[in-house]
Amino acid sequence: MWNMSTIKFFLVVISLTTVIAAELPKNWEVCSRSLPEEEFSKCLDKAARDAVVSLAGGLKSFKIFPVEPLLVDSVKIGGSQGSVNLKQEYKNIKLYGLTKDLEIHNHHLELDNGCLLTSDSFNPQVDFVADYRLDGKVLLLPVKGSGKSNVTMYGLKSHNELACEKYEKNGETYLKIKKYSVTFSPDKVKLNFDNLFDGDKVIGTQLNTFMNENADLLFKELQGPYEETFSQVFTKLSNEVFSRVPMDKIFPPK
Ligand SMILES: *[C@@H]1O[C@H](CO)[C@@H](O)[C@H](O)[C@H]1NC(C)=O
Repeated sequence: MWNMSTIKFFLVVISLTTVIAAELPKNWEVCSRSLPEEEFSKCLDKAARDAVVSLAGGLKSFKIFPVEPLLVDSVKIGGSQGSVNLKQEYKNIKLYGLTKDLEIHNHHLELDNGCLLTSDSFNPQVDFVADYRLDGKVLLLPVKGSGKSNVTMYGLKSHNELACEKYEKNGETYLKIKKYSVTFSPDKVKLNFDNLFDGDKVIGTQLNTFMNENADLLFKELQGPYEETFSQVFTKLSNEVFSRVPMDKIFPPK
């Protein structure tokens, strides 16, 4: 009964069913590429915003984990040379606020001449909450400790550039995000590190105040790794959608 050919038959059936193209979730809006450029851009702004907001609780059929909060493994930042020479390690990272009152603007999609999707986004408040370990110096002042940290970015403007490529699968064109570059520019950053210097309240409070007075300087160190982490997570997330749904079902030609 379970001879080689039956097994082969089932393997073929299984692989066939796994390559069938998926549809976008019913409640996601699609924007037709035939729209005039400005309308198309506005349509994408809204469609992308609504899609991200709808991912707050995740999307099982696309293997997408909840985005609110967004869980990230760990980030390590080596001590750089300069006014901040600080080894920073963050674990069990949770990003809160990525979907709350999110705004997306200036969408632009290029599919005919290369493959590029750009947009600007705005989040009123994003909290980067993690278990931290710090060791080093900020402006000659020693900083050391481990515990809970909360880095809050207010008025966070981001510029997103998704470099993509088109490829064929089962006679359909799909998109793949090759590189997701994001640059963050927050209006204001607030830092809070619990338990600095083994919980020494006086020094800990003073040091938090001091670090907040120099938040822009510290954020410059954090920014690169934050952006990198964010790009990695969002490349994966975008590709969970793009690898399943053909391009013409996401951006219909008509
Ligand atoms: C992080 O800090 C912000 C700003 O103070 C606050 O609104 C938020 O509730 C804090 N989050 C946690 C988990 O402590």
